[in-house]
Amino acid sequence: MPEGSGTGPHLKMHGADRAGGFPAGFLWGAATSAYQIEGSPLADGAGPSIWQRFCRTPGLVHNADSGDVACDHYRRYREDVALMRELGLNAYRFSIAWGRVLPAGRGAVNAAGLGFYDRLVDELLRADIEPMVTLYHWDLPAALDAQGGWLNPDVAHWFAEYAATVYRSLDGRVRKWATLNEPWVVSDGGYLRGALAPGHRNRYEAPVATHHLLRAHGAAVQAYRAEGRHEIGLVVNLEPKYPATSGGADRVATAQADAYMNRQYLDPALLGHYPPEMREVFEDAWPEWPAADFALIRQRLDYIGVNYYTRSVVGADQSAQPVRAARVRQAGAIYTETDWEVYPQGLVDALLWVKERYGNPPVYITENGAAFPDPPVAAAGTLEDPLRVEYLRVHLQAVRTALARGADIRGYCVWSLLDNFEWSLGYAKRFGIVHVDYATQRRTPKASAAFYRQVIAANGACLDEMKLSP
Ligand code: FCB
Repeated sequence: MPEGSGTGPHLKMHGADRAGGFPAGFLWGAATSAYQIEGSPLADGAGPSIWQRFCRTPGLVHNADSGDVACDHYRRYREDVALMRELGLNAYRFSIAWGRVLPAGRGAVNAAGLGFYDRLVDELLRADIEPMVTLYHWDLPAALDAQGGWLNPDVAHWFAEYAATVYRSLDGRVRKWATLNEPWVVSDGGYLRGALAPGHRNRYEAPVATHHLLRAHGAAVQAYRAEGRHEIGLVVNLEPKYPATSGGADRVATAQADAYMNRQYLDPALLGHYPPEMREVFEDAWPEWPAADFALIRQRLDYIGVNYYTRSVVGADQSAQPVRAARVRQAGAIYTETDWEVYPQGLVDALLWVKERYGNPPVYITENGAAFPDPPVAAAGTLEDPLRVEYLRVHLQAVRTALARGADIRGYCVWSLLDNFEWSLGYAKRFGIVHVDYATQRRTPKASAAFYRQVIAANGACLDEMKLSP
């Protein structure tokens, strides 16, 4: 990652092209994921996922919340697609719940589960909205977890079989596919720190989960080349790392943090090897893998999906694991409700880093957004969320800057369309541009939705003129 100053807020971006700066045909989307919005997780023969179990284990999820109802999107998807159309979205990124399609994770296909996505895709196409499908957004079938989940080498084949089943059903209508969402979070949150399903805390497991996630990604891309006719990519979360000081210890820690989070997945997938720092990070927990695995992992990709929320200023900290580093808080910076520094220059840096390091692949920004404490819906049926509006505006300016500097960016999805189930934080954190009243399931577009609608209508040409709502 490029190194920045490490200090101070950077909310002002310098637009490179006041006439617009976004190419014709740019995709303006919003993103969600299955378990976070659908509800009805066991409907129509679906098998339970690891999140179903995680939520039912006391103490793991804030307020004992679960995705049992969520935004009830499984039953309200038509209304939600109508809402997307009103916002002017021309793309919608969602994920498929593996256990709806294959209740036991492999073997028998559940036609009713597949049918839901079939109807959703038709509804999107009728509304002129491009479906962007993610095959895995963290909801592994519980039956596969019982067989070791991401620690079992066979998971690569299980995933490729599931993927092929979905391609056969939807590739005639879906043109943008992604294998995994944020494999780093699956390994770090699910197997190392235990904050996410399946909740393991084992530094010897995390590198194994990583490797089989990558093999599964490669196997699903291979299956796509046999079955599919459009585009497939991998979605990663990038968080540029900047040293807190120019001292040697901070620089080493920064390189390791960058390897762990930013290069651990993209380097094998695009270059065919892990970053050298991984062995320093995991020491004896870092295994050797056969060369043939890297031939499977490194497949030709049509694009990279980048999720961007924040950056990290890194200071060496011998007590931290697995990277001996800690995030250094920035005086004067603005932080979101999830305690993420608002730092749009980090998105410019991440996009230019992908361009330089990986040969300027096509990129979709597959997630970007923020949770801030929202006021209640006003009597007039409106909700003012000026901090989210500003967050989106400065990050869209960052996208424009990266475009002007030659990055091949094809689209942008705000996280998220709807307030939803934010994993172990439950419903306490709201990322939506549309407010959801969980008691009534009423949807209320926030000021940020109105802002985004204007941006889309102008293909991004109005970002500098637009002012915050009072
Ligand atoms: C990302 C996840 C997404 C959501 C946002 C806030 O890491 O992909 O599901 O939780 O963070």
